[in-house]
Amino acid sequence: MITNKDRLFNLSTKRSTYLFAVTETGHLEHLYWGRRLNKDISIDSFAEKRSLNIGGGTAYDSDHPTLFLSNLALEYSTTGKGDYRESSIDVEYQKGLRTLDFTLQSFRILKGKPRLFGGLVESYGEADQCTTLELTLKEKLLPLRLLLTYTTFEDSDVITRRATLHNDGQESVVIRNLASAQVDLEGNWDLITFDGAWGRERHVNRKEIKPGIYINDSKSGVSSADHNPAIFLINEEDECLGFNLVYSGNHRELIERSPFGKTRVMTGINPSGFSWTLTGGERFQTPEAVMTFSARGLEGASQNFHTFINHHIIRGPWKFRERPILINNWEATYFNFTEDKLLKLARESAALGIELFVLDDGWFGVRNDDTTSLGDWTVNPKKLPSGLGALSDRIKKMGMLFGLWVEPEMVSIESELYKNHPDWMIAIPGRNPSVGRNQYILDLTREDVRRYLFTTLSKTWKLADVNYIKWDMNRIFSDLYSLNAEMSNHGEFLHRYILGLYELLTKLVTEFPAVLFESCASGGNRFDLGMHCFMPQTWTSDNTDALSRLYIQEGTSYAYPLSTMGAHVSSAPNHQTLRRSELESRFNVAAFGVLGYELDITTLNHQQKETIKAQVAFYKAHRSILQYGSFTRIKLANSDSNQVVWAVASKDKSEILVLFAQKLNPVNPGGDILRVQSVDTNATYEVFPRQQKIDIKMFGDLLNMVSPVHITEGGIAQETMSKALSFDSEVEHYRVSGEQIAYGGIKLNQQFGGTGYDAMTRVLGDFGSRIYLFKRID
Ligand code: GLA
Repeated sequence: MITNKDRLFNLSTKRSTYLFAVTETGHLEHLYWGRRLNKDISIDSFAEKRSLNIGGGTAYDSDHPTLFLSNLALEYSTTGKGDYRESSIDVEYQKGLRTLDFTLQSFRILKGKPRLFGGLVESYGEADQCTTLELTLKEKLLPLRLLLTYTTFEDSDVITRRATLHNDGQESVVIRNLASAQVDLEGNWDLITFDGAWGRERHVNRKEIKPGIYINDSKSGVSSADHNPAIFLINEEDECLGFNLVYSGNHRELIERSPFGKTRVMTGINPSGFSWTLTGGERFQTPEAVMTFSARGLEGASQNFHTFINHHIIRGPWKFRERPILINNWEATYFNFTEDKLLKLARESAALGIELFVLDDGWFGVRNDDTTSLGDWTVNPKKLPSGLGALSDRIKKMGMLFGLWVEPEMVSIESELYKNHPDWMIAIPGRNPSVGRNQYILDLTREDVRRYLFTTLSKTWKLADVNYIKWDMNRIFSDLYSLNAEMSNHGEFLHRYILGLYELLTKLVTEFPAVLFESCASGGNRFDLGMHCFMPQTWTSDNTDALSRLYIQEGTSYAYPLSTMGAHVSSAPNHQTLRRSELESRFNVAAFGVLGYELDITTLNHQQKETIKAQVAFYKAHRSILQYGSFTRIKLANSDSNQVVWAVASKDKSEILVLFAQKLNPVNPGGDILRVQSVDTNATYEVFPRQQKIDIKMFGDLLNMVSPVHITEGGIAQETMSKALSFDSEVEHYRVSGEQIAYGGIKLNQQFGGTGYDAMTRVLGDFGSRIYLFKRID
């Protein structure tokens, strides 16, 4: 709901209100963003008091000697008129002049949401789901018009924002910065960011915001694993603000605490390296910023984002549809596979209930390692003599879907594509280009490159009748340059690249409406809302180690729902960490996401295959909750806690699945308590752990305590026994009220601690875990 009364604009959603007012000078003063206000609003009580000078400050003008923009909470700020904080807009006009002053000229309120233009992607909502406010501001001297657009989404307590700059004059100007949104806040806040690198994406960092500037950004051309565009601010009252950006390129979130205790938050395209020439009559629009408020802290803000993404970002036939369990051959074979090997892998996977076979890297050109063939999207007849179509047919006959890996944005020097079109590669004439994973990036700002990719990819995908595409992107940008004649200002390059990518993806998803796309960029280097407008899910990380994944998936889950997170069970020792964890534990963690397997199933023993079969059946039985349920974190991986507890509940709370994981095995521990607040406190539940298999090898030579013959640790006898035999996990069962679970918690069976073992003992070990089922029974 959006209303305007006199000077006041009120943007309210189900549980939040956002207010700003127009000052006597026509500036927009931010007044409030918090819990929903239902009574009449007094502007005066929220507005900045301005009867005195600010020492050392600059007043707006002589008619307003006590109006100091430096201590006004503003909706959108400029430089040169007395606000010395970072500004939202920076435009260079004649002779390097930069002073700007925009004031309100008019506004309109619309049902629904007008579409973005200029090739960007955005959230969507029906006319009864959202309302839009469009404010038109005019520069006082120059022929520049600034449109600030706000859309409220009732159901998820989200407001989205964007800015559009029109050049109504004849002369060109250069945009150096144009933020998507700015909010100036009162009070003390902590900042939460999601930082990392390859293999350790989106770890949670929380810090107190002190005077000065903090920047969370990316300059590598992708939204990045280094610093995700999602951030949260949280105060002492546990009120939480969330921000994200519908964009896949360089972003910047700037947080500045001013000398007067106000905190400015700004998000948008990263101005670093960016400049955009706006000729007369042209306009430029920013990506859409997504903002949410919750009075229920980080958990509440996170759930708002989940609702928003599932309803208003993910689109197409896979929206709210259960995603298939996949087998991916990458870690099973890497580049070294034959048709027979793939078919065997598919066949054995199908027998375990796995639903989608994904052929990863290495099927095209002469790609036997990562040095060649990117760009040549035709099948390698040596590896797949029957062709892609035949392979896909045979896999479909097994009752599975067929998926394919591609990395279309890239080119290898050793490729037909490079031979024929060296000018399509991003490089600066006369300079030796920098390289990542032996590969280079194609210039997607060029129409001919995009056309080539569309034609080649469409042909191949049709040939193989694909149901799923993994769209990878394994290096980041350098040597920014384009031979594209339209590119007169290379400060535009990276943004034009993203627009080119979005154009190509729009065409492809339109041509292949039924295909499920999964985005990937060396794992999670481009996990963002821009890509999610095309691709319902993203490969969260190349690191599939169960312990590492607790940190990565938990961090990712704050801003993105479980339905967006690809999570695979891989082999042990893990290929990224060399850590050994139990097959059951690898599953338990991967089950909190979109499940897949990425290991050579054909080499597993009977016990292991039976274990996977049971896992797959379990996941299918609970998949709608594990992908679309309401997710809460009870004990955090990203903390000092040795235990990690997550819960995911069905909408009506009739079924809840709870992950209990531990980092290390405690010795002689006290009792573990499972306290879950997301239950229905008026209901009664049955609570029990998913039955797991315990590999007898976990016990090492302790097996000799029960074995009639001596068993050597690591010896053949132990190995043989473990193939045929395993222990069942503990017997544990409760019938208990929701209030007991929520207010006191369940004291679980004792963990193994070196003092004995019986049918009740919970044997978890290092990185061990269980999934508990809570089923309402009345
Ligand atoms: C990237 C992806 C992996 C795999 C390889 C193939 O690293 O993240 O999942 O597809 O590329 O080269």
